[in-house]
Amino acid sequence: MLPLPDYDFLPTGTHDEEAREHFCRNLAVKLATDIRPHLKKLYDKKVKPRLAAQHGRDPNFREISKAMRTEANTQIWYRLRTDNQDRMYSVTGDMIGRQAQTLAANAARKFGTHGSLSLAPDLKMPRHLTEIDIHRKPGGYHLEAFEGDISTGAQYERTIAVHNMGSQGINNDDPAHSMATWVKTTRPNLKPTKILDMGCTIGNNTLPYKSVFPEAEVHGIDVSGPCLRYAHARACALGADVHFHQVNAEETGFDDESLDLIVSRILLHETSAKSLPLIIQECHRLLKPGGLMLHCDAPQFNAITPYQASLRDWDATCNNEPFMLKVYDMSLQDLYSANGFDPDAYVESFIPGLYINDQNIDPNATPGFSQSYFVTGAVKAH
Ligand SMILES: C[S@@+](CC[C@H](N)C(=O)[O-])C[C@H]1O[C@@H](n2cnc3c(N)ncnc32)[C@H](O)[C@@H]1O
Repeated sequence: MLPLPDYDFLPTGTHDEEAREHFCRNLAVKLATDIRPHLKKLYDKKVKPRLAAQHGRDPNFREISKAMRTEANTQIWYRLRTDNQDRMYSVTGDMIGRQAQTLAANAARKFGTHGSLSLAPDLKMPRHLTEIDIHRKPGGYHLEAFEGDISTGAQYERTIAVHNMGSQGINNDDPAHSMATWVKTTRPNLKPTKILDMGCTIGNNTLPYKSVFPEAEVHGIDVSGPCLRYAHARACALGADVHFHQVNAEETGFDDESLDLIVSRILLHETSAKSLPLIIQECHRLLKPGGLMLHCDAPQFNAITPYQASLRDWDATCNNEPFMLKVYDMSLQDLYSANGFDPDAYVESFIPGLYINDQNIDPNATPGFSQSYFVTGAVKAH
């Protein structure tokens, strides 16, 4: 059995389903820690010298991806990883499908005991989320089969336990614990009283802001109703007074200059070129002067080697991540300064992962290939 929280709104599996799910996680770890390093050796010994001779310089990440894709070993690795992703959604989908009504009823019984939930059933879903099944997840983040459905949120909780390979703790909240603690220690004067997490999904990386800043009002927003219902039930089960809202991060409805800290975790790379500047403009509008915007995602390509950047090729070509390469390859400093922030107020850092370091997790067995979390952001000028 995977280590998972014990909520009555999280589905249970049969013996065989849990064995299949466990297999997915073990295979994910094996592919990441054992097999991927062999691909690096293949690159160093064979592909890199060939590309260097061909171009007369070190290859860039696109050239590396293209060349590596033609290698049989890479193709096998891509196939195994893709199949594992589909197997993971198939097994968790089977569990959730037959328990969906019960889970929704159990979640609803928790509602209202802590924090709040505000849904907007008529909210228009952004086209960039409805046009594709992101991560190959059938129905994406927003699928809602019946009124009160929480299935997509429940599935997210089970699948990140597989996908993150246990690297972020049982609640999959190490990124936010690490970020909130970093903000508190490196910016002691900030003392946030109102915090917003954009693209919060099930709130796993929202709740730690309430634990680290207990005096603050903490809000999480997302466009997905089923994820937010799950997030609210989960926060109630954990006794966290956090407020969830179904709104678009491009236009949140919060007041001008009403927030001290705006954060996100892996939102930017799933956002279209049209939406991205609008979200940054909204962050600028919402922040008080001196307030901080901090987005956590995988490292930008200029902060890692071209080979490391080429490892994102599988996500872009096989895992339905159409915006990822463009976002990781752009200058976020330019993006932020084109949308309201001063260029010299740009923030960029690798924040040590508290759980990852405490447990000394192999960087290969983390989704970001690192024991740190990469953050970028900016401070709003006074
Ligand atoms: C990768 S998930 C974020 C995961 C979560 N923050 C975590 O730490 O596990 C991206 C989320 O952003 C949401 N999202 C994408 N575009 C959005 C937008 N314009 N406004 C609000 N939420 C958005 C999606 O519905 C999805 O739940």
